[in-house]
Amino acid sequence: MKVLITGITGFAGSHLADLCLTKKDVELCGIIRWRSRTENIDHIWERVKLVECDLRDATSTRDAIEEIRPDWIFHLAAQSFVPTSWNAPTESLVTNIIGQLNVFEAVRKIKLDCRIQIACSSEEYGMVHPDEVPIRETNPLRPLSPYAVSKVGQDMLAYQYYMSYRTDVVRTRGFNHTGPRRPPIFVCSDFAKQLVDIERGLRPPVIRVGNLEARRDFTDVRDIARGYWLALEKGRSGEVYNLCSGSSHRIRDVLDMLVAMSGLTVEIAQEPSRMRPSDVPHLEGDNAKFAADTGWKPVIPFEQTLRDLLDFWRGVPARK
Ligand code: GDD
Repeated sequence: MKVLITGITGFAGSHLADLCLTKKDVELCGIIRWRSRTENIDHIWERVKLVECDLRDATSTRDAIEEIRPDWIFHLAAQSFVPTSWNAPTESLVTNIIGQLNVFEAVRKIKLDCRIQIACSSEEYGMVHPDEVPIRETNPLRPLSPYAVSKVGQDMLAYQYYMSYRTDVVRTRGFNHTGPRRPPIFVCSDFAKQLVDIERGLRPPVIRVGNLEARRDFTDVRDIARGYWLALEKGRSGEVYNLCSGSSHRIRDVLDMLVAMSGLTVEIAQEPSRMRPSDVPHLEGDNAKFAADTGWKPVIPFEQTLRDLLDFWRGVPARK
């Protein structure tokens, strides 16, 4: 079976690639953009067929998908950082929505018989009211950032292609995930890297933070990768599923956990530049639908994920 991962060089994509390579009879392919950083997949480089392509370009996308002719596509490529979407909203909307449109149109025009997983996001739920927690898939979508709007667009586009053309698509609404290889712009990795830099004497013992009052539902990226695989193995066509742990942590508590694990004494400094025009206050999902259809449940405890993240940064050579 031929499996294509868009976004294979990214955080979740590289963990999914590792998982795919443990499966029997999988020929793994990935789409890579010119000048993409490749350090996340350098260890599997020789076992993956990489095709150069820019998903924002319809011709490029169609040529790549025609060349690979995958049986399954995991569509993970995206502009995934919420703050960037305020600075460059057009880029986020084009990359995320038009990129996916190009994948769908390529599959449709080539008449390819393939299953497609779409990495949607819990950010789509946005403004969730206290009586709506834990969030189910039926909750209204009230996006609070251009990024969230782009994910609503991807989600609805996938629904529409299923309804209009019976495109074999499964949507996963991933809640926050973290773990080794997470870029240090995202909260847990950002704090973990700051702590490791302090351990190394590279910076004073002050942790720079944004909004510590938000609550997020964190899952280990390796559990999420398993979820993506199960979504295509067992998920129902046209359906949408929450991928989440089912519990949430206040960001302040996550910081406290990391600081305690490091054994350091630090000061906390809130930076206005790390605050968002609107931040989703509380994300905590209900994963019952996905569990019932696929048998998935997360197995890696959050504390373990945070320890692995700290160890990941300790293993990365220091850069001044
Ligand atoms: N990045 C960051 N840096 N976030 C901070 C900081 C900080 O210094 N301090 C507090 N936060 C808060 C943010 O305001 C937000 O409430 C929370 O920590 C998580 O921020 P991120 O890690 O940047 O993730 P996100 O929740 O905005 O989005 C992630 O999860 C989505 C799924 O819910 C991303 O991975 C998205 O791509 C994904 O769709």
